Amino acid sequence: MVERETWTTRIGFILAAVGSAVGLGNIWRFPFSVAESGGGAFLVVYLIAILIVGIPALLAEFVIGRRANVDAVGAFRAIGRGNWRFIGAIGVLASFWTLSYYSVIGGWVLRYIFGSATGSALAGPEAYFGAASAGSSSVLTHVLFMAITIGIVAFGIERGIELATKFMVPSIVVLLLGLAVYAFMLPDAAPGYEFLFDPNVTAITSNLTQIIPAATGQALFSLSVGFSVMITYASYLGKDDSLGADGLSIAVTNTFVGILAGTVVLPLLFAGGLSVGAAEGGGIGAVFVAIPIALGNFPPLIGKILGIVFFFVVLIAALSSAISLLEAPVAYVVDEFGVPRMQATLGIGGGAFVLGVPSAWDIAWLSWFDGIGVALLLPTTVLFVVIFVGWIMGDDAVDEIKKGMAGDSFGTVWLWSLRTFVLVVVVVVFLLNIHDLFF
Ligand code: PFF
Ligand code: NA
Repeated sequence: MVERETWTTRIGFILAAVGSAVGLGNIWRFPFSVAESGGGAFLVVYLIAILIVGIPALLAEFVIGRRANVDAVGAFRAIGRGNWRFIGAIGVLASFWTLSYYSVIGGWVLRYIFGSATGSALAGPEAYFGAASAGSSSVLTHVLFMAITIGIVAFGIERGIELATKFMVPSIVVLLLGLAVYAFMLPDAAPGYEFLFDPNVTAITSNLTQIIPAATGQALFSLSVGFSVMITYASYLGKDDSLGADGLSIAVTNTFVGILAGTVVLPLLFAGGLSVGAAEGGGIGAVFVAIPIALGNFPPLIGKILGIVFFFVVLIAALSSAISLLEAPVAYVVDEFGVPRMQATLGIGGGAFVLGVPSAWDIAWLSWFDGIGVALLLPTTVLFVVIFVGWIMGDDAVDEIKKGMAGDSFGTVWLWSLRTFVLVVVVVVFLLNIHDLFF
């Protein structure tokens, strides 16, 4: 039995976790859902959701992982006994499931780097997206993206994930900052900021029962909570540094990147002569159609360069998330069954590729997979994680989170937040999602 790896540095763990958190969700889902659902007012609701549900739940996953130092299924079994291991299993399934279509989108992004360079993606964006997102060409880019993901995870924690994210995360921030500064200097960019930040209070207050679960679900997905991923990453922690401080810096960076992406995307759209209407309701299409349309209205060379840089940023954000989605099931197979990492990575990655073929073939399947993952698997895991850490671990959880922290009032407040309002919000979100899904 080979010795289990650990992160070599604290910052290595933080960057890997930020890499997981910062992904497609930040760059397309976030800016557009803010712009569409109330601008600054939605931003406030989202920030509250991150603060009072996202961060406590993230810390709950960290506590499980660091306490057990084993894969998510093993962790629930070691700490909770009985059938709790099934919660870990649902989380592992959720990451495998999500990886299958996340990789499909990642493949499109890969293709768009080249499509920007040649200019063909910017010349006829709708047709280009139609061709890129369906049939065999979408399957092909899906293979490529998955192969890169497998290539990184096969090298393990230190020489694979930690090394890769050490370069990827700073690159994302620096390149996005560069794009944001450029976008700021464009004429006609101003309405973009208005769209992003102007609070539309009535859009929120008239729609609270939808906005609250939407913002909470998005906050959890954005922090990679509910997929066993953060449990797995924390299981590789060797030293007991303050999880509270780590969780906070991860959440702050993730939110910052989302807002930063908004200050790139929306001004670019407006400067390219589009109204947000073009992107509205677009979700995936917004990034792959509206942005290229806008860039096509720039001088050709500038449009190409912006397209290459923008999609490159999206690519590394997607990759650093995909490797975390692969690592959770790989850790499960390695730790539970003693399968060598190389074989486990190839087998799981290959399996996720196959599961993703329908999503690659037809975008309707992709939406279906996304819907099940986000509306069913995620809320189920989060609900039981919160119950598990709040009520089953209880004082043990406080004991674990206290390590590396001054004083123990934080741990107690955190535990009671999990037991009370975090639980209430998560139950409500769970029920609303189930209701929407089945009734
Ligand atoms: N947090 C990622 C994003 O915002 O795009 C998506 C994600 C990655 C979700 C990893 C879950 C996960 F385990
Ligand atoms: Na995110």
